[in-house]
Amino acid sequence: MKKILVTGSAGYIGSTFTYEALKRHHIIFGLDNFSNSTPKYIDFFKEKFHENFYFSELDLSISKIDLKKIIFSFKPDVILHFAGLKAVGESEQKPDLYWKNNVNATLNILDCIDKNTDLIFSSSATVYGNSSEQPLNEKSRIQATSVYGETKIASEKLIKEASLSKGIKAISLRYFNPVAAHKDFVISEDYLNKPNNLMPKLIESAKKNLNSIDIYGKDYATRDGTGERDYIHIQDLVEGHLKAIEKLKAIENIEFYNLGTGNPISVLELIDTFNRVNKLNIKKNFVARRKGDVEVCYADPSKAIHELGWKAKYNLAEMCRDAWAAVNYELK
Ligand code: WQD
Repeated sequence: MKKILVTGSAGYIGSTFTYEALKRHHIIFGLDNFSNSTPKYIDFFKEKFHENFYFSELDLSISKIDLKKIIFSFKPDVILHFAGLKAVGESEQKPDLYWKNNVNATLNILDCIDKNTDLIFSSSATVYGNSSEQPLNEKSRIQATSVYGETKIASEKLIKEASLSKGIKAISLRYFNPVAAHKDFVISEDYLNKPNNLMPKLIESAKKNLNSIDIYGKDYATRDGTGERDYIHIQDLVEGHLKAIEKLKAIENIEFYNLGTGNPISVLELIDTFNRVNKLNIKKNFVARRKGDVEVCYADPSKAIHELGWKAKYNLAEMCRDAWAAVNYELK
């Protein structure tokens, strides 16, 4: 049992991790400012896990004093830092918001901890930018092509420096494309009616009987001309975090791990699988490429497999089935 401080604990990945960790009897102190989430799951955790769940509404990027008090009193073994804005397109429109929110939050956490508190950072495959070298491993060139990606690179650098200067043990987990929902179906991604990513757009289309989805480009140098990504079931992603927590004691300063399946899936393959397993018939509209999209992005997960003892186990059909089932569960 660990005492875990979870930033962004109301968000899609933060709440799914929090739920699984509470089920495993860890003691969780959640933080969130609800800038990109609602209190729905926090209220659920307060009721269902009232013995091992605590929460404070807090904006990490401004409230360093309150954060310091919480860390001093809760004394977490490890902080899981999920909080951050993550829309690539929005980051280009609002760069100052992304720099302030994402990097100041990381800076404030690092100012408030010492070698007695370990840190696991929610990073992203966007730190690799548009790389022709695929699959991507942890030594692949770092070259973000968006402000969002730059903020993740900057946070990783700040954490690395703190691990060397303050003796903090840290792990940075670089997510590829997290999708689906926890298999208890009590939590699903609440994209607040502004879906950006492919799977939420499919779900929105099916929920609202729009029955069509735009496919951004069919002229990529891929198997079927559409973009390829490494979609990973959120339950696999959460398991990767729990394995990383176990790994921390063996870390000297900082380690980086890609969390992906190693299996590139095209937009068409995902849409066709989503339709097939859920018996839907969402029509495909081919439109122009989306600005900033990379052609192909998928992981070489061998470092995580060998060093974390972790391997993604759910396939695309399960991802598509669970993503849709969780929505229907909530609709009952
Ligand atoms: C996937 C594919 C689109 C929507 C983003 C973030 C990344 C990470 C994961 C945080 C692409 C295509 C999409 C649509 C489409 N998040 N697409 N029609 O852009 O790979 O990555 O989420 O770390 O940082 O950048 O995900 O789901 O938006 O796109 O054709 O309506 O689906 O072109 O090929 P992306 P995505």
